Amino acid sequence: MTDLLTIVLAAGEGTRMRSALPKVLHEVGGLPLVGHVVRTMATGGASLSVVIGPNHDAVRQRVEALSPGTVFATQSERLGTAHAVRQAEPSYREARGHVLVLYADTPLVSPATVKAIADKLDAGADIVVVGFRPADTTGYGRLLVENGRLTAIREHRDATEDERRVPLCNSGIMGFRADTLRGVIDRIGNHNAKGEYYLTDAVELANGDGRKVEVVEADADEVIGVDDRRKLAQAEKQFQQLRRDDFMRAGVTLRDPDSVYFSWDTEIAEDVTIHPNVVFGPGVKIAAGAEIRAFCDIEGATIGQGATIGPFARIRGGAEIGDDVHLGNFVEVKKSVLHEGVKAGHLSYLGDAEVGARTNIGAGTITCNYDGVNKDKTTIGADAFIGSNSSLVAPVTIGDRAYVASGTVVTSTVNADDLAIGRARQDNKPGYAPKLKARALAIKQSKSGK
Ligand code: UD1
Repeated sequence: MTDLLTIVLAAGEGTRMRSALPKVLHEVGGLPLVGHVVRTMATGGASLSVVIGPNHDAVRQRVEALSPGTVFATQSERLGTAHAVRQAEPSYREARGHVLVLYADTPLVSPATVKAIADKLDAGADIVVVGFRPADTTGYGRLLVENGRLTAIREHRDATEDERRVPLCNSGIMGFRADTLRGVIDRIGNHNAKGEYYLTDAVELANGDGRKVEVVEADADEVIGVDDRRKLAQAEKQFQQLRRDDFMRAGVTLRDPDSVYFSWDTEIAEDVTIHPNVVFGPGVKIAAGAEIRAFCDIEGATIGQGATIGPFARIRGGAEIGDDVHLGNFVEVKKSVLHEGVKAGHLSYLGDAEVGARTNIGAGTITCNYDGVNKDKTTIGADAFIGSNSSLVAPVTIGDRAYVASGTVVTSTVNADDLAIGRARQDNKPGYAPKLKARALAIKQSKSGK
């Protein structure tokens, strides 16, 4: 395969986002916009150069974490897309293969489109531009094609009425043979309506040099550019659609696909069923045959084979849910290991806990893991039974096969096979109930004055 250098333009201000956060750090599917582009290219083995704005240390840090080895260039003044590419000159100075220019705010470009560009360059094109046909062409550069060749890209502001009627627009994604890029980039001027150095002018210059410039078409949904919060929401919608389709193709049943939201890194094995209204945050892995019932919120967790979760369960960071575990309604689990076959059917909080295989956690059981300052651990053995409405005050250990009676507040170790009861003893008063009722009625009457 020909060497591929990718230059990602990320220096834009993003003023229309109206945000303290740099635009390219806004997230789609839990991953920053720039992260999508970087991941798509890094997995394809390309070397990366990212052009950032002067106050964009946060962008640099996020990208470095996702793709160590990425090179950065800073564009101190925002003078246009060609000027931005020039800031990455040290990376393309010696490049011998292809150079791909992507926008950090265009997150959903597919590997298939990248491949289509590379194939055309391999087949002899000098520049390849990704075009698309938006419903509303206002603001986009128009692709002027003659006899199958792209002769020029005309920015909307600089276009004539006739040129503005052209439906094929520039997505901004362009591939170059490295020598072609070097041959045109320094000749691009800024004599246009915006007074900017337009990368798009490379097309006319290359044509003047007798070079071959071609177009690859992509769906408008794929090359959606995010410049405000509405476009961010559209990109999220499109991303979710793609993930849902991927999972269904991979053998996951989604009862109501449109109501299930995935993260960029969600991993789900075959034969998992997901009911409506489920949200996955980052870091979730689900093994084969598990069932996630309606209205669950799950992040940072692994879920074992055949486990059933929900409805209305909340599974948080550091939860390791074993095979065949059952967690029912209003159960919250955080940073806990639940071994095979554990059952917590209703209304529980399990935090900083380890629960042994097949142990039953009764309704209303709470691990009291926080004393207002420290977090402590609760350890429960295998085959134990925790009665309903028990408070387990950490740090505390409950042994294998132990029983904890309902309503117990456990504050010290319960050994294996022991029973712990910690509650006030019941005291029955025979025949006392009618007297209590009579007294209550008397109080009511005296209040109403009758
Ligand atoms: C650009 C294209 C236009 C295309 C449109 C698609 C040019 C001249 N025009 O226009 O043909 O239809 O994208 O969305 O290329 N950037 C920098 N530094 C700069 C300028 C831009 O890093 O000095 C980055 C921005 O962060 C952004 C991208 O380049 O990611 C595009 O810049 P923008 O100014 O939004 O270009 P458009 O005017 O939309």
